[in-house]
Amino acid sequence: MPSSSRSAKDFFRPLAVGAPTPPSEIPARPSRAIHFFDPSNAKMAAKIPQMVGSVDVLLGNLEDAVKADNKEAARDGLVKIASETANLGGASGPTQLWTRINALDSPWVLDDLTTLVPAIGHKLDVIMVPKVQGAEDIHYVDRLLAQLEAKAGLEKPILVHAILETARGVANVEEICGASPRMQGLSLGPADLAADRRMKTTRVGGGHPGYLVRQDPDGSGEEAVNAARTTYQQDLWHYTIARMVDACAMHGIYPYYGPFGDIADVVACEDQFRNAFLLGCVGTWSLHPKQIAIANRVFSPSVEDVTHARRVVAAMGDGTGAVMLDGKMEDDASLKQCLVMVELAEELAA
Ligand code: GLV
Ligand code: MG
Repeated sequence: MPSSSRSAKDFFRPLAVGAPTPPSEIPARPSRAIHFFDPSNAKMAAKIPQMVGSVDVLLGNLEDAVKADNKEAARDGLVKIASETANLGGASGPTQLWTRINALDSPWVLDDLTTLVPAIGHKLDVIMVPKVQGAEDIHYVDRLLAQLEAKAGLEKPILVHAILETARGVANVEEICGASPRMQGLSLGPADLAADRRMKTTRVGGGHPGYLVRQDPDGSGEEAVNAARTTYQQDLWHYTIARMVDACAMHGIYPYYGPFGDIADVVACEDQFRNAFLLGCVGTWSLHPKQIAIANRVFSPSVEDVTHARRVVAAMGDGTGAVMLDGKMEDDASLKQCLVMVELAEELAA
């Protein structure tokens, strides 16, 4: 294949500017599905070892959905699972290990960090921080992690992932992404965000049948206005995902969709995931094993798309100028789009 001196990463993943310590490139490890489990739930925990290798990320959840009485058991359960499960987490295994700690204004978060980092810090790839409001929240976690890592003698820094789930967090999304060289990515938190914004949906992610546009009437007058007209359901999350994708691209980190709570509705789940993939997200959360397969399929480029992208790369030779392929004009910009697709396929195949 003719080589191009440029890579999609040259423009898609610039190094962060103005970060407190020299930025390091965030490794591109596949994370199409971040599968949540409750480490305090013995039945769920028992299944974790068999899932290693079949999902990109296993995340031990300590925050919402874990009862207040079970917070300590969840933390201890995660330490046990991480210590006893082979090939889970720690940069080289097939499945990364993440955790979602409790919110920074909760009584549990300090114990989460001071317990987990010394005990399993060498296996923890990413810490997901909920309800992040601004850069100050990331600075706090960054400092604390640096102290705990130094004390534990850890060599590999633990990365940080923020959930965008407050109106203030969305308003500060750019500064959150650039707040630390540890920043790995952002997820949309549609349930908390809906509540914080006083939106009128009670769902966890996904659309709403009331949020729609109606086709213009065919003519004027009462009869035309009252006639049945086609309606189209709109995506409640488009604005936030688009903002998140831009902020992540600007800082060279990864955007993710978040939870889709209607486990039975696999069709709507796939639609939400696909819209997020097409807009630039690299992965999503999985709340049930059946969502892993959906995420793996949706967040991998199709064979047809990759084949087409490789043809464009080959046809573009040194990467400059324009060529006609199947009646369509291809140039430097479409080459960059195709390189995104090819590089993603290569990262997933590696
Ligand atoms: C996730 O945490 C959400 O609030 O949607
Ligand atoms: Mg939430």
